[in-house]
Amino acid sequence: MTAPHEATADLLEQARRVVVLTGAGMSAESGVPTFREAQTGLWARFNPEELATERAFRENPARVFGWYLQRLHAVRAAEPHAGYRALAHLAQRFRDGFCIVTQNVDGLHARAGSRNVVELHGSLEAFRCIECQLPFPADQIGGLDDVQAERPPPTCRECGNLIRPGVVWFGESLPSDAIGRAWRAAEEADVALVVGTSSLVYPAANLPAVVRGRGGRVIEINPDETPLSPSVDLYWSAPAGEALPLLAEALAGSQERR
Ligand code: OAD
Repeated sequence: MTAPHEATADLLEQARRVVVLTGAGMSAESGVPTFREAQTGLWARFNPEELATERAFRENPARVFGWYLQRLHAVRAAEPHAGYRALAHLAQRFRDGFCIVTQNVDGLHARAGSRNVVELHGSLEAFRCIECQLPFPADQIGGLDDVQAERPPPTCRECGNLIRPGVVWFGESLPSDAIGRAWRAAEEADVALVVGTSSLVYPAANLPAVVRGRGGRVIEINPDETPLSPSVDLYWSAPAGEALPLLAEALAGSQERR
């Protein structure tokens, strides 16, 4: 039987364009918590309705803002693991034909050197006015080294309303430019590589079906099976930090042999 890294490398070898969809599991080995895993997941420890909705923010801005600043502080201290670097390396082979669509808000793909990255759910580094939408630079938010559970948000210099985190909350639409770029990449891709997502949150979870609908192949890397697993062409049960470097090596090896 072909080893999963070789089978995955074979599928990618035949591809001209690849879309990668990543979720919280991609960052687990960098020490960033996932959402839905029992005990360690953020939504196992915190109630999303109290922290990840516009209503929660309007009711208790200091609590919600403090929680996001604490997450920002934690991801700034995290380092992208070898799987991130492997993806950045893989991209070079496909040039413009490689797009990473991430549900993550931690910025680790860019920090690992990936260029064509679509942040579907926004970014912890982005802030904007809740009313007029004017962006607010993260570097103007001081005291990130000592963030308490509660921190009143700053106010907008144009309209005086509250500054909110630039992440997508429950009940909100995804940024239209990000959706457009992600769906274009999926429509053009021969292969979707889905890494570290529970495939439970839409519209992101629809992306592999877009690739498949156009005759493309779907590969999933995740230590645990998900609702997507039964329909993929190749399911590889492994953590991202182990699988992706193996894959990059296998592809580099096959290129040398040619
Ligand atoms: P989840 O927490 O729902 O799922 C994480 C997935 O990562 C699970 O399927 C795990 O099995 C898998 N996993 C864990 N460790 C892994 C590893 N080392 N390597 C690979 N996979 C691993 O996270 P998401 O699917 O990203 O939205 O959740 C989607 C969205 O739901 C998030 O973007 C967030 C959340 O509510 C917003 O905040 C808008």
